[in-house]
Amino acid sequence: MASVAVANLSRHFGRVVALDDISFSVADGEFLTLLGPSGCGKSTTLAALAGLDRPTKGTIRIGDRILFDGASGVFVDAQFRNLGLMFQSYALWPHMTVAQNLDFTLELRRIRGAEAKRRIDETLSLVDMIDFADRYPGELSGGQQQRVALARTLVYQPEILLLDEPLSNLDAKLRDRARIWLGELQKRTGVTTVYVTHDQAEALALSDRIIVMNKGRIAQIGTPTEIYETPSDVFVADFVGASNLIDAELALQPGGQATARLPNGEILRVNPGPSGPVTLAIRPEKIVIGEDGGPPDNRVVAKVLAKSYLGARNLYVIGIGGQRLRVETNAGIDATEMPIRLPMESIRVYPRA
Ligand SMILES: Nc1ncnc2c1ncn2[C@@H]1O[C@H](COP(=O)(O)OP(=O)(O)O)[C@@H](O)[C@H]1O
Ligand SMILES: [Mg+2]
Repeated sequence: MASVAVANLSRHFGRVVALDDISFSVADGEFLTLLGPSGCGKSTTLAALAGLDRPTKGTIRIGDRILFDGASGVFVDAQFRNLGLMFQSYALWPHMTVAQNLDFTLELRRIRGAEAKRRIDETLSLVDMIDFADRYPGELSGGQQQRVALARTLVYQPEILLLDEPLSNLDAKLRDRARIWLGELQKRTGVTTVYVTHDQAEALALSDRIIVMNKGRIAQIGTPTEIYETPSDVFVADFVGASNLIDAELALQPGGQATARLPNGEILRVNPGPSGPVTLAIRPEKIVIGEDGGPPDNRVVAKVLAKSYLGARNLYVIGIGGQRLRVETNAGIDATEMPIRLPMESIRVYPRA
C-alpha cells in the first residue's frame, strides 16, 4: 500500500486549462474522492495519476517514487505504475469466464500456476463472486459484472486503486447497494483509493476525505462532515447537499455582532463576515419550523408557496423577504403561512461573488 502526493499539477489542452495548479495528498489506506460537476477536471486528474495522460507541469509521487516531474521530464509509463484502474465503461472479456477474466489479467503480469489460482479464489471470495467463477459475463447481472470488474482490478494487488465513476451505469437501487459494498470492501482490503464521482451523496457516504473541484481547481479538501457543515465557498455550499442562497448586505455592529439586510429590508442576525454585499447560505433541513424555544432572533412568518411529499420528509418552498427558500421537515403543515426561524449558527456568510 502507498500514499500519493500531487504538487502544482496543471494540464492544458491547447487553450483549455483542464487542471490549474492543484496539490493534494492521499494517505496510505485512505479513501479519497474527487467530486465536482462534469468538466471540472476529475478524470484528467485520475488519468495523470494512472500515467495515461501526461500533465503540463507539476509532480506526482507514489510512496517515495517520482512518477511524474514536469521540470525534469520524468514520466513513468502506466504499465510500470502498478495501479488498479476501473472506469465507468469497464468491459469484461465476454468470451472468458469470470475466473479466466482474472487469470488473463494475472497472465499479463506473469503471475501463473498455483499463485494465480490462490489469488483468483481469494479475490472472488472477497467480492462474493466465488460461486460464479465459471460463468460468462453475459450470464451475470449488471451488479455482478461490476464486482467481477473490480475483482479483476484487485487481483494483481495494485498499490493504489483508481476508480472513475465505476457505479454510474448501475440503476439507482443497485448503486446504493454497490456503494455500501464498495465502502466495506475498501476498508477490508485497506487499499489506498482515489475515487471520482459527480454524485455528492456517493462522495459523502464513501470517503474519508473529499476534494471538491471546480473548473480545474480545488475548491475545498475536507472530511465529509467538514465539507457539508462548513463549505468554504458558495460553490461548495450549493454543489454538496442543497443550500438556500440569499443575497444580503452585511453590516458589522458594535460588540462584534453582524446583521444582514435582505432585499425587502428584513434584518437577520448572522455571524460576522465581510461588510457589504454577501451571499447567505442555509441548508433546507436547518430551517426551524414553528416555535422551538430557541432564541428570539431571526424569526419570520413565511408564506408556503409549494409543498411536495418526499416519503420520509416533506419539502416546502416558502417565501420570505421576496426570496424563495426550500425547507425540509418531518412535519406536515397545511397552513398557507408558517412561523420559521433561521438559526444564526446555521447561516453561513460568504462574500458576494
Ligand atoms: N483530450 C482532451 N482534449 C481537449 N480537452 C480535453 C481533453 N480531455 C479533457 N478535456 C477538457 O478538460 C476539462 C476537464 O475534463 P475532465 O477531466 O474529463 O472532466 P470531468 O472528469 O471532471 O468531467 C474539460 O473542459 C474537458 O473538455
Ligand atoms: Mg470524468
